[in-house]
Amino acid sequence: MNARKIIIGRQRERRIIWAAMRASLESGKHKYKRSGKKSRSQWSTFEKLLRVFRWFLKLGGLYQKGIQNAQEVKVERITLSFDDLPEAFDGFTILHLTDLHIDSLPGHEENILNAIEGNHYDTVFLNGDYRRDTSGSFRPIIKPMQRISDALNPPFGKWAVLGNHDTYLMAEYEEEVGISLLVNESAVFEKDGEKIFLTGTDDPFYYFSEQAILALERPLEGFKIAMIHTSELRDFAAKNGYQLYLSGHTHGGQICLPNQKAIITHQFEGNEYTAGMWNYHGMTGYTSRGCGVSGIPIRFNCPPEITFITLKKS
Ligand SMILES: [Fe+2]
Repeated sequence: MNARKIIIGRQRERRIIWAAMRASLESGKHKYKRSGKKSRSQWSTFEKLLRVFRWFLKLGGLYQKGIQNAQEVKVERITLSFDDLPEAFDGFTILHLTDLHIDSLPGHEENILNAIEGNHYDTVFLNGDYRRDTSGSFRPIIKPMQRISDALNPPFGKWAVLGNHDTYLMAEYEEEVGISLLVNESAVFEKDGEKIFLTGTDDPFYYFSEQAILALERPLEGFKIAMIHTSELRDFAAKNGYQLYLSGHTHGGQICLPNQKAIITHQFEGNEYTAGMWNYHGMTGYTSRGCGVSGIPIRFNCPPEITFITLKKS
């Protein structure tokens, strides 16, 4: 095997401009959507409601059960067939991890690593939301993220994007942790003379910018995968010939009714984008339930997941 990785669109100046813009957006109390600037104020109301909910769960003796559920990471395996997948990538397996919120549950990195152990994968994609909070220090996540990174060494490397809980400052730790961050950039995977592409954009849920669209419009000839924290940019990806779109963010609802119906999903894209497979104008999409928790560290009827996605040539 002749594995090679190249990054397109990474330039020092471009990163500096992005960091300055992201820093400015992070310092405000708004979210920046495709549709414009919106208030984030409803989050504080939501947190108050969560505190009441937590109190009821503790009273009813369900809180510990919810924490236990959040620690039982389920392995999901999906095989996706594509006509236009290069032969060399037939059987190529992606380990997709998202929404780790690794400081929400102490020691959760071991639950994730135990679920991964013994499985084969060619690359690791990390689809954002590494910390619990949306602001403040991210130092508590460095050690557990380092632990995860040290334990995973696939031939095609580890690739990440930022989510709405993350800060641009995390980009500084990229080399130290050993994970390549894609900020509106594309990675090229080469094997036996053939190529596939991975484009990762900045988070569109809080920090949308035109740079994300320009990254998806970059002319790349061949099989293309988009890794974006939410499904919000699926139309741009489909329009630009992406075959596969991977997202997270929703946690599958995290707390669901017994029929697995999510109560709250923090997205407005439609129920079909909350969890699992979807299709948008011929492009295959997958939304992971994520492997961590935010808000309150519990799950009901919605197990955390790690996902092995195997690409097949049809
Ligand atoms: Fe998340």
